[in-house]
Amino acid sequence: MAKNQLIGLVLLGFDRSSSMIRKSDAALLLQLAEQASLAFQNAALYREQQERLVRLHRADRLAAMGQLAAGVAHEVRNPLTAIRSTMQYLGTTVEGSHRELFEDLIGEVDRIDHIISGLLNLARTGNLQRLPVDLADLTEQTVRFLDHRARKQNAKISAQSSEPIMVEADPNQLRQVFLNLILNALQAMPEGGSIIVDCQIEPDRSRPSQSWAQIRIIDDGPGIPEEVLRNVLDPFFTTKSEGTGL
Ligand SMILES: Nc1ncnc2c1ncn2[C@@H]1O[C@H](COP(=O)(O)OP(=O)(O)O)[C@@H](O)[C@H]1O
Ligand SMILES: [Mg+2]
Repeated sequence: MAKNQLIGLVLLGFDRSSSMIRKSDAALLLQLAEQASLAFQNAALYREQQERLVRLHRADRLAAMGQLAAGVAHEVRNPLTAIRSTMQYLGTTVEGSHRELFEDLIGEVDRIDHIISGLLNLARTGNLQRLPVDLADLTEQTVRFLDHRARKQNAKISAQSSEPIMVEADPNQLRQVFLNLILNALQAMPEGGSIIVDCQIEPDRSRPSQSWAQIRIIDDGPGIPEEVLRNVLDPFFTTKSEGTGL
């Protein structure tokens, strides 16, 4: 036992001479068991502490990055708009392959703009809305929105939810989350496959009056390797040539 919690059991049989265990042996074993449970508990506490540190470090980095990003993003966006509209105009004054060059360049400008939007989203955590949202409905909307795109690559997305799941949340931000996760799933299966979006209400075992909403987005792509999994939540971490990691 450690702190009134059962940590484990030690089972004893007879020793080789088939004699009963002596009281002194039992006392020694009990002491050993106590030491062992303390060691187990220390190990668990240590691991919890490490995980907390990693989370704290990540939150810190996100906050710093968010501030920097917002500042840079605003400064970059204005000249970018000017560049885009000028290129669009110049593109109409030339013919053939030169026109294509302009179109490619405008595509690159749009890519920069997309990254900037991602950065601004990263920074915008203060003004969240808090509205009643049905998660089953919201995920289904997202699935419908991406259905056409999925079909084009031979993938099928199905939403599974038996009942409305009401929570208080920011529907736009959540929609963005579902969209990104389903897009990740689609990008993981370029040859097609199936994606299941599963919404469930899970009882909270430690607080019986409460429950959790659980949303799972399951694809049958290759999965995420251990060393990638460790970094997926870091901004800018990507394994895709066209990815942003945001
Ligand atoms: N469903 C998935 N299957 C396999 N790998 C994934 C999946 N989702 C995310 N990943 C991995 O996590 C990385 C980070 O994802 P993300 O933050 O969305 O950035 P991005 O999609 O721009 O690469 C991806 O580059 C990919 O390696
Ligand atoms: Mg992604």
